[in-house]
Amino acid sequence: MPIIHKKQLVSTNTYAQQLLDKGKIKNECVIVTDEQTAGKGTASNSWESERGKNLTFSIVLFPAYVKVSEQFLISMAVSLGIKKFLEKNISTQVKIKWPNDIYVGDKKICGMLIENSIAGEDIFNSVIGIGLNINQKKFLSDAPNPISLAQLSGEVYNLENLLPVLVKNIGSQLDLLKKNRKKLLQKDYISNLYRYNEVHKFKASAEVFSGKIIGIDNFGHLFIEKETGSVEKFMFKEVEFII
Ligand code: BTN
Repeated sequence: MPIIHKKQLVSTNTYAQQLLDKGKIKNECVIVTDEQTAGKGTASNSWESERGKNLTFSIVLFPAYVKVSEQFLISMAVSLGIKKFLEKNISTQVKIKWPNDIYVGDKKICGMLIENSIAGEDIFNSVIGIGLNINQKKFLSDAPNPISLAQLSGEVYNLENLLPVLVKNIGSQLDLLKKNRKKLLQKDYISNLYRYNEVHKFKASAEVFSGKIIGIDNFGHLFIEKETGSVEKFMFKEVEFII
């Protein structure tokens, strides 16, 4: 995938979307920047990233191979690619936290913001924004639990060298999706899921309850079995993990 580098952008997702709107991107590519002046997080949060310290980039895909009803497979593939990349650099286990975070222990090392343009049942294009904390040592925002690769390993990384390797890892997982290896991706995703099949506390519609995650479907719904034995299905933002 070609990598387009910009010194500063408002947000790589916004920039990618602008280029798409103008018809200036026709093929898969990656847009990376050293600094975002208004990096976007999920749920209208902002994304903190010190200039030049971390990887903040967007991957643009034209995933004609995925139906809207199975759009979460894109998140599964990308998350697995990031996880596999990280595990080559640190010995600690890396987990994927539903829906779009990567965790080391109970700390967040990476967040993703995926914005899909939908045309009927098909996904016309997908902008996958990835913020991966690499060399940053101090986090100033009120994000509850950030961590970086440097904090975990004590090393300093060269971002320019890391990005192509990371993109390659993500690309390999996306290739599995292109080859329709859905079952393999689902299995790998579930076996690397944060807090899978363990009893924990969750919060939904102001109610705190204990339960365990028992599955995720290809649309991205999370299934939690409550202590009472009933199974409930949640969409993004409908349920929170209580740490
Ligand atoms: C989250 O809140 O966890 C999602 C964070 C996503 C951040 C990345 S950084 C690159 C891309 N551009 C943005 O504005 N946001 C995403």
